Amino acid sequence: MLFERPDTGDRAVVLNVELKRAANPEAGEFVDLAESAELTVVETVTARRDAPNPRTFVGSGKLEELKSVIRHNDAELVLINHELSSGQQRNLESALDCRVMTRTELILMIFAERARSHEGQLQVELAQLNHAQTRLVRGWTHLDRQKGGIGLRGAGEKQIELDQRMLMTRIKATEKRLADVQKRRAQNRRGRDRRGTPTVALVGYTNAGKSTLFNRLADADVYAQDQLFATLDPTMRKIAVPGLNDVVLADTVGFVSMLPHALVNAFKATLEEVVFADLLLHVVDAADPLGSTRMEQVQEVLEEIGAGDVPQLVVLNKIDLVEDGSPKAEVTVDGSIRGVARVSALREEGLGELTDLIGRTLGVASPHEVVLDAGDGRTRAWLYRSGAVLEESLLEDGRLQLTLQADGQVIERLRNTPSVLLRRASALPKISSLNPTAAYAAEISE
Ligand code: GTP
Repeated sequence: MLFERPDTGDRAVVLNVELKRAANPEAGEFVDLAESAELTVVETVTARRDAPNPRTFVGSGKLEELKSVIRHNDAELVLINHELSSGQQRNLESALDCRVMTRTELILMIFAERARSHEGQLQVELAQLNHAQTRLVRGWTHLDRQKGGIGLRGAGEKQIELDQRMLMTRIKATEKRLADVQKRRAQNRRGRDRRGTPTVALVGYTNAGKSTLFNRLADADVYAQDQLFATLDPTMRKIAVPGLNDVVLADTVGFVSMLPHALVNAFKATLEEVVFADLLLHVVDAADPLGSTRMEQVQEVLEEIGAGDVPQLVVLNKIDLVEDGSPKAEVTVDGSIRGVARVSALREEGLGELTDLIGRTLGVASPHEVVLDAGDGRTRAWLYRSGAVLEESLLEDGRLQLTLQADGQVIERLRNTPSVLLRRASALPKISSLNPTAAYAAEISE
């Protein structure tokens, strides 16, 4: 857009620069990121430096090496694991005659491909536009200096002003659309709060299997067509959890380590679902030898966005890929981690246990049994509406016995209803063989 950039393609050389006094992103992760963007990494070149070269980030010797690696492999793209100033990026591109992409740009590209929700797409678009704008502004002065001559400069300026106006208009329009979507999201969340609907959000390192799990859990959803939720973001679905009325499951964008700061900010709003969630399902690839490190990296991002203390269940996914069933990641139930489940989202194994665990962790009491007067249709209807009824039977005297799995609020309300008899279902003698009133009288104040 700003300066003539070399064409690009999907054969990439990774330039991995290790700086002495700076945090360096992991080399392996960077290659994984490139591959998940469907680029083919043909070779990795490593450079060690005390500090970046201000003009080209690496020195002239490394540039020569890169040139020959590019030629030799017919590469069309160089990926560098650090951020570059627009000047450095431009200098590198012209020295190498090859497109250069930074870590932020690569992550933005992955996010752009993967963003599923309308909001996510808008957010990526905005981040990309803002990024382009920083390139444009700095590149402008660079272009001025380079072209020097007054006539030429004027021409360059016009084009850039035009580009900049276009960018600003698009940024404004995207911001406006995003604000509308976010307003709707906040309204939805307030609605869910009012109805007491818990939200469970999926988090996890990119590729851990969040979306697969999301689809599997949501498939089991008997309310999929419910109009109330038809307007929700496509990455939010109602799922069935025993004993709870509705639970909303939210899928989120995949995390990577050292998420560039500009991106953390861009995604904060989408990640609000995580911050406000009642429970997080932290999906971990059980077959990944770096599983424990990935968990820590996800935890760091969670803390950065203010969700470090939200209760979590660790879901060790892809258990089908693990020999002898022992996951590579070690998990201790401690602090915000409230439990661990082992599943194979792909093979749909362990999902029932997972939803039970979600239910228990969200504070579902163990099953209760309740006896209602024959005429108490109101309580009966309310219990059905709340999704708490597991079983119903008619007693000889015409009253109704319901087996419930309900949250604390429902149980509390039943306890405070004088006409209702209530007790925990475990070890309960068959009620039909007893005088129900006597059997339950002692339990009412349980
Ligand atoms: P991001 O969108 O990058 O955050 O990824 P994600 O966490 O949503 O992962 P996704 O669901 O896209 O799955 C990544 C890959 O893992 C896909 O190829 C899935 O088919 C595969 N996968 C997911 N679950 C399982 C599983 O239980 N077993 C196996 N063998 N593969 C799985």
